[in-house]
Amino acid sequence: MGQAIFVIYILGFYGLRTATGDYAGWNDRQVITGHVAGDDVGNVVFALHVLLAAVMTASGVLQLIPALRRRFPAFHRWNGRVFLALAVTMALSGLWATWVRGSYLSIISGLSVSLNGVLILIFAAQTIRHAVARRIAVHEVWAMRLFMVASGVWFFRVGIMAWVILNQGPRGNNETLTGPADIGLSLSSYLLPLAAYEIYRAGKRTKSASLRLAVMVLVAALTLVTLIGVGGAAAFMWLPALTTPQ
Ligand code: HEM
Repeated sequence: MGQAIFVIYILGFYGLRTATGDYAGWNDRQVITGHVAGDDVGNVVFALHVLLAAVMTASGVLQLIPALRRRFPAFHRWNGRVFLALAVTMALSGLWATWVRGSYLSIISGLSVSLNGVLILIFAAQTIRHAVARRIAVHEVWAMRLFMVASGVWFFRVGIMAWVILNQGPRGNNETLTGPADIGLSLSSYLLPLAAYEIYRAGKRTKSASLRLAVMVLVAALTLVTLIGVGGAAAFMWLPALTTPQ
């Protein structure tokens, strides 16, 4: 649901302005670079990046619905290919926007999101490699890892909001994302979901009831933090953007 609200935000904010030709309106939000008059290549890459973000996120969510997977396996396979291709496109366009266009708030925040991009590329390659070799179980594990890192940008927004809500205000954050909390949250946005997925897999394998219980408690706690973050991001970031006058 949290990713669905993110999709609604992207379509309702960037989609609407792009469809009506109001490209300068991308900057109605606090973007780093956004629309720059005369920079046609940069503007096109920005538009592709943000609009494909909505398609990739929607496609990723659909992959996780068990009923869809069971009843429409052909759709699941094709949607998986679309997700992977879009995740790679997002990583490449994001890396370009960061280092060629120069859309970064600080070197450290640029480097952190770039590591996220590089992991997307590596995990996508692994997902394909194991699918081609028909190692389906391993392929599925890499596909889930890919989903986790491809959701990093979403987790970052959710994580920041959860952090600010739980601390009742920013703590260790600053405008250029160089505060200790910013760095921690940025790295956690893809490393923590990855770690949580590995712990969850270990929890499924173990025979120890107490370990399983510990994993259950951890997953429940992370779910609660995600819920708080999604509530905050929806209430303070995404839904207000939909009512920003054009
Ligand atoms: C793969 C998942 C990704 C998604 C879903 C995503 C989504 C978005 C969205 C929605 C925006 C618009 C800003 C906003 O309204 O929040 C954006 C901007 C941007 N993204 Fe991504 N992104 C992804 C990956 C990346 C990666 C890996 C990088 C860098 C390596 C990156 C770099 C950027 C840059 C530089 C901007 C422009 C910032 C600005 O000018 O304000 N993105 N992205």
